[in-house]
Amino acid sequence: MKILLTGATGYIGRRLKERLLQDERIELRVLVRNKKSISPSAKEYVDAIEGDTFDRKALQKALYGVDTAFYLIHSLSQPNYKELDRVSAQNFVDIASECGVKRIIYLGGLGVKNEDTSEHLLSRLESGEVLSSHPKVQTIWIRAGVIIGSGSASFEIIRNLTEKLPIMTTPKWVSTKAQPIAVDDVLSYLQASIDLEYTHNLIVDIGSEPLSYKEMMEATAKALGLKRTIIPVPFMSIGLSSYWLNLFTPVPYSVAKALIEGLKSEVLMQNDHAKDYFPHIKPLSYIDAVQKAVEEIEANQVVSRWNDHGGKVWDEVHTKEFSDAIFVDRKVADIGTIEPSKIYQSFTSIGGENGWFDYDFLWEIRGIIDKLIGGVGLKRGRRDACDLRTGDCVDFWKVVDLKANERLLLFAQMKLPGKAWLEFKINENQLIQSAYFYPKGVWGRLYWYGLIPLHYLVFNNMIKSIIKKAKNL
Ligand SMILES: NC(=O)c1ccc[n+]([C@@H]2O[C@H](COP(=O)([O-])OP(=O)(O)OC[C@H]3O[C@@H](n4cnc5c(N)ncnc54)[C@H](OP(=O)(O)O)[C@@H]3O)[C@@H](O)[C@H]2O)c1
Repeated sequence: MKILLTGATGYIGRRLKERLLQDERIELRVLVRNKKSISPSAKEYVDAIEGDTFDRKALQKALYGVDTAFYLIHSLSQPNYKELDRVSAQNFVDIASECGVKRIIYLGGLGVKNEDTSEHLLSRLESGEVLSSHPKVQTIWIRAGVIIGSGSASFEIIRNLTEKLPIMTTPKWVSTKAQPIAVDDVLSYLQASIDLEYTHNLIVDIGSEPLSYKEMMEATAKALGLKRTIIPVPFMSIGLSSYWLNLFTPVPYSVAKALIEGLKSEVLMQNDHAKDYFPHIKPLSYIDAVQKAVEEIEANQVVSRWNDHGGKVWDEVHTKEFSDAIFVDRKVADIGTIEPSKIYQSFTSIGGENGWFDYDFLWEIRGIIDKLIGGVGLKRGRRDACDLRTGDCVDFWKVVDLKANERLLLFAQMKLPGKAWLEFKINENQLIQSAYFYPKGVWGRLYWYGLIPLHYLVFNNMIKSIIKKAKNL
């Protein structure tokens, strides 16, 4: 069976890829916007096609000879996502039909169209409609609401609010009902859809017991062994609530706003197709799903996170050489007799709970400023305290290149008057640490000049600390 997986670098796609690789009947192909984002261990087993759904040639190459294709794509992080997602779905189904693909499996959002339906959900519904519109290709459209799993945006919001705020004043949407589902159950429905014996289009709503967001937060507190008081107040607007989430959780304002808008209306299952067509899948209860997610986080075994996708970042990366950077801060240190693998291990363990060496507090302040102005801040941390892969977030940085025992390249995702990169490179017997900055206008230049004294402290300390840490490994 030849299967194409799109969105393989996203939250669901990364996890589904692991599952599909376990199935010996499957020959797996992935369509990715940057081949480097496929982990080295998976590269051996998957056929990776580089390109996106706006590139017809790449789509033809990706869909050629494929029996079933998973469509796990959305462009939520971009301002014109509605239009992009519609065109993307149309291109996909058109070329799937040209290539003789029999089945598309799409994971969309749960909910119905009414005056309260969020733009985000409308767009997800539209993608499903477009994918299901071709007479020659069958589409199995799985619809899920709140997904509970380590690293999922909704779960991270609920967990962070519950952990950080003993008394929560919440907007009235906390009484809205939804049907959350464990991420592993979502994967089971997606995987089982490959073998489903049914030839028409099918919409399958999935979820566990209906719960209000207040009940979800109370159950989360119970699972975490915490006592929490929730006081709904009538005056919190979507904007204010989103800003609140932006400050107290790792999700930035734009993601929080899209999610909160979706909480205005109930997201309940509209059909029993999950039970009818997949009776062997018994969804976990909410509390069990939370417990499983917490266990994964505590065991440092988070497979994917909501911020894994690269999006526009890859456009920046493909041709980057840095010979044209306007500002460069470079530090070089001899590594002496220390093994390069230890130096690599030292600089790839930077950030998150491991921190940024002696000037951690300066990074914290920068993170708070970023959060206050609606940026991603430092709270995203790391997926794993030791392991790093291309596409991972490290606080407000994104890992855009990683070569074992050689190089780590980070792209800054904080709000900046320009574009910034941080590179660690081992060359012969030296560690080379370079910060590159491409300023935007006068403010960009003033920003760089204003930070020179802080850079002096931070970057000098950083290279020395990396070497020192490597010596002790
Ligand atoms: N996560 C949830 O909580 C949740 C809940 C309900 C439903 N769903 C649905 O599940 C599906 C997958 O969601 P997700 O959370 O896994 O998404 P995600 O983490 O945001 O990942 C999106 C994926 O799509 C890829 N992508 C975006 N535009 C593309 C394009 N034009 N061509 C090729 N690849 C493109 C991204 O690649 P890059 O890495 O290159 O950016 C990334 O791999 C979506 O339809 C979503 O609505 C998710």
